[in-house]
Amino acid sequence: MKLTQTPPPDYANARSRRQRQRAAGLHPDYWYAVEWDHALRIGEVKEFTFWKHSVAIYRGSDGVVRAMENRCAHRSLKLSLGSVDGCQLTCAYHGWRYDETGRCVSMEHSLFGKKMPHVELETYPVQVRYGLIFVFMGNKALASERRIPEIPQWDNPDWGKISIDFTWNAHHSIIIDNTCDFTHAHLHRNRKPFTHAELTSLEAQGDQVTLTYDTQVGQGRFSKLLVNRKTTKTNAMTLGYQYPYQWSDTDQKIKHWAFVLPISESRSRVFFLFYFSPEMVKVPLLPLNVPRPLVKLIMPIAKRLIVHPLLKEDEVAVEAEQAGYEAHHDKPSPDVNPVLAAFQTLTLRKWDEYLASLSPRERVLETHGARPEAAEPALGEQPPARA
Ligand code: FES
Ligand SMILES: [Fe+2]
Repeated sequence: MKLTQTPPPDYANARSRRQRQRAAGLHPDYWYAVEWDHALRIGEVKEFTFWKHSVAIYRGSDGVVRAMENRCAHRSLKLSLGSVDGCQLTCAYHGWRYDETGRCVSMEHSLFGKKMPHVELETYPVQVRYGLIFVFMGNKALASERRIPEIPQWDNPDWGKISIDFTWNAHHSIIIDNTCDFTHAHLHRNRKPFTHAELTSLEAQGDQVTLTYDTQVGQGRFSKLLVNRKTTKTNAMTLGYQYPYQWSDTDQKIKHWAFVLPISESRSRVFFLFYFSPEMVKVPLLPLNVPRPLVKLIMPIAKRLIVHPLLKEDEVAVEAEQAGYEAHHDKPSPDVNPVLAAFQTLTLRKWDEYLASLSPRERVLETHGARPEAAEPALGEQPPARA
């Protein structure tokens, strides 16, 4: 028996596909949900982290949300410790003030007779949709062509909606695997969101994996009361990993999107948007649909009794899987669901695409995780080859 444990390898040193997957980030050339729109008030600044990069988001007096590198150019304090002045962000320490383009436009202290130095920070494009703030961290030239998924039902007042988020100590791939791997019905054996799942199709095309299960949807104590089985076919579900997002669809009437924010190798925030056709929401114990204007009144109850407790079960599992992976990353992990292999292939291909767009030095820093100083290549040296 071996008593010592080593931490999981970084991407450059991974020896198995699973180790590579669990060390891979998500490609920054996409829009990532970072916060709820309502959670950032006018005059407020907050921090979020995208794959170990800290970013300050703030809402100016004009109501517009802006995102900026979270590092004062002076002494590297986080600007999220500072304050919003009008539409500008002021550092907490010496009061350097940055405008929305990231330029330092004023310094509160004496300049000692010198000219104000030219200082400019990185800023990131921002969009607000579906009650979420999305930020584009990658190549800005691609920001306008990359699309946030269309959810036309979100603006339809008749559809019921549930927004919920969690920050979990788990790698993003563990979370996305969990949402589509219906072999885990056992975890939810009391709540029964899906039972007796049989995979009926699996297709990988471009940056998307689509799959269908024959399964019994929503057989739990409370969901049984609310789902109208006459109007809604609840014996199959379609799901997708539409990189880097995840969605599901039951008979065009029960749908969700999951937007994952990768924070680090072992931490992620996930924003779920669930939405329900008024045709499927039934009055408990009666063969009647809930009147359309009342569907939205049911949603907070469904969130509390069905969605939140169900996802708390997933929380326990994904965090335990992360801990298990960190303790036993070198053990084989036999899996039978082909969905997982297809997801792994897509995640790794996209991360490799991103790495290929970097300079050799940037690639070394990116793939050596928490030990970039150990990875400093000698001048002219090539980055180490991956397993
Ligand atoms: S550290 Fe920000 S102004 Fe000095
Ligand atoms: Fe689950």
